[in-house]
Amino acid sequence: MRLHFVELAVLFAGLVCGRPSPSGRHLDMDRLTTALTRGAPILGKYVQSPSLTSNWMATLPDERKLVELSIPGTHDAATWNYSQARQDELSDYASSSLNLAKYYRCQEKSMFDMLDGGVRFFDWRIAYNPGNETIGFHHGAAVLDPNATFQDVLYGFYHWLDQHPTETVLISINHEGSTGTPDDAAYYKQIYDTLNSSPSTEYWVQANGTIGTLGESRGKLVFLQRFSWDKLPASDDKRFGINLPGDAWTDNGRDIEIIYNDELDQKAFIEDFYEMDLASGSSTDAFVSEKFNATSTHLQKASSEALDQLWITFASGYADYSNTDHPITPKVMALGDDTAWGMNQRLLLWLFAHRGRLGVVVLDFFGAVPGLAESIIALNYGI
Ligand SMILES: *[C@@H]1O[C@H](CO)[C@@H](O)[C@H](O)[C@H]1NC(C)=O
Ligand SMILES: *[C@@H]1O[C@H](CO)[C@@H](O)[C@H](O)[C@H]1NC(C)=O
Ligand SMILES: *[C@@H]1O[C@H](CO)[C@@H](O)[C@H](O)[C@H]1NC(C)=O
Ligand SMILES: *[C@@H]1O[C@H](CO)[C@@H](O)[C@H](O)[C@H]1NC(C)=O
Ligand SMILES: *[C@@H]1O[C@H](CO)[C@@H](O)[C@H](O)[C@H]1NC(C)=O
Repeated sequence: MRLHFVELAVLFAGLVCGRPSPSGRHLDMDRLTTALTRGAPILGKYVQSPSLTSNWMATLPDERKLVELSIPGTHDAATWNYSQARQDELSDYASSSLNLAKYYRCQEKSMFDMLDGGVRFFDWRIAYNPGNETIGFHHGAAVLDPNATFQDVLYGFYHWLDQHPTETVLISINHEGSTGTPDDAAYYKQIYDTLNSSPSTEYWVQANGTIGTLGESRGKLVFLQRFSWDKLPASDDKRFGINLPGDAWTDNGRDIEIIYNDELDQKAFIEDFYEMDLASGSSTDAFVSEKFNATSTHLQKASSEALDQLWITFASGYADYSNTDHPITPKVMALGDDTAWGMNQRLLLWLFAHRGRLGVVVLDFFGAVPGLAESIIALNYGI
C-alpha cells in the first residue's frame, strides 16, 4: 500500500460536509451546558472545527457492515489529561496505593479531539465517583475527575453526534475494579436507567446482541457491554448491546474468542495481551517486539479470516513496573524511547505494507504519531 498524505487530504476534504441530523432529536440546552462544563475534564473542550477526519464515514455506503470496517480506537480514553500535576491536584481522592500518574496515563488528546481525529471506538472504565452516588471515570485506583459524570460524558457524545450525523461510534463500557467503590445493584440500575431513558434511547443503536450496518448506526452509539447485568432484577429486561462480559475475556489473552450471539453464530476475536512477561530489565525493544508480535499476528488474521465477524486488537500495553528505573509505561510501549521505536511507529510502518479489513485497532497515545489513525481509516476506501 502506498499512502500519500496529499491524496488522503484530498479524500477527506470531500467528506467534511455532513448530512442533515436524524429528525426529531433535541438535547436539553441547559443540561448540555452543564454536561460540557462539568464533563470537560473527561470530554475536553468542544470546539466546532471540521477536520479532515471528523466525517470519515460519510461517503462509505450505508450497507457496509460495521464489522467490515477498519476503525481506530482508544484504550482508556478518559486518561488523556492525567498528568502528574492533575494527580497532585486530585490528591484528596487518592488512595494510598496510588502509583505515579505516568503509570495510568494512556492518552494525550481529549475525547472530543479523538472524535474529530477519527476515533470510532472508545474504551471507557467507569465506577462510582467519590461518595458512591454519581458514576464517573477511572483507571485502576486513579480517580480521573471526582465530579464529571457518566451522563455528562454521554451528553457530550450525543452533542457531537448531532453535529456529525454520518458517523457511528462503538463504546465499550467496563466496570473498573480496584477503585475501592462498590458495583452494587444501584450502580447497574443507574446505568440501565440512563441508557433506557430519553434522550439516550435516540442515541444508542437498539439492536440487541448483534452488530448491524453503517446505515442503521449513523448518528448513534453502538454498545459493547464488558460487564453483566446479573445484579438487576429480571423485570429490567430492556437490555441491549453486544455482550462481551468480563468473565469471558481471558486475562492477558492474545487470542480471545467470545460468542456474543449463539443463534446467529456471531463472535468477537480479541487480542488484549496488555502485560509483557519478559525478564525484568529486558530492553525496550524486547518488550515492544513481544507486544508487536501479538498485535501484528492478530491484525494479520483480522485482515484474512472470519471477515464477517468482529475483530478487536489492542495495541496498548505495559511491562516491568517493578523496575522503577525503567518501567515500560503505556507511553514507552506506544511511543518508544531513545533506544527503540514504540508500537505506534511500528504499526504505521506495518500499515504501509498491508491491506484489508483490520476491524478495531485500539491505540494508546492516539495522535502522537501523525498519520497512524488516517492510515487505518484509509483502508476503508481501498487506498
Ligand atoms: C488538565 O489538567 C490540568 C493540570 O492539572 C488542569 O489545570 C486542567 O484544568 C485540566 N484540563 C481540563 C480540561 O480539565
Ligand atoms: C463507598 O464505598 C466504599 C466501598 O464499599 C466504602 O468504603 C466507602 O466508605 C463508601 N463511601 C461513601 C461516602 O459512602
Ligand atoms: C468538585 O465539585 C466540588 C463541589 O462543587 C468542588 O468543591 C470541587 O472543587 C470539585 N473538584 C474538582 C477537582 O473539580
Ligand atoms: C436482549 O437480549 C437479552 C439477552 O438475550 C435479553 O435479556 C433482553 O431482554 C433483550 N432486550 C430486548 C430489548 O429485547
Ligand atoms: C511470536 O510469538 C509466538 C508465540 O505466540 C512465537 O512462537 C514466535 O516465535 C514469535 N515471533 C517473533 C518474531 O518473536
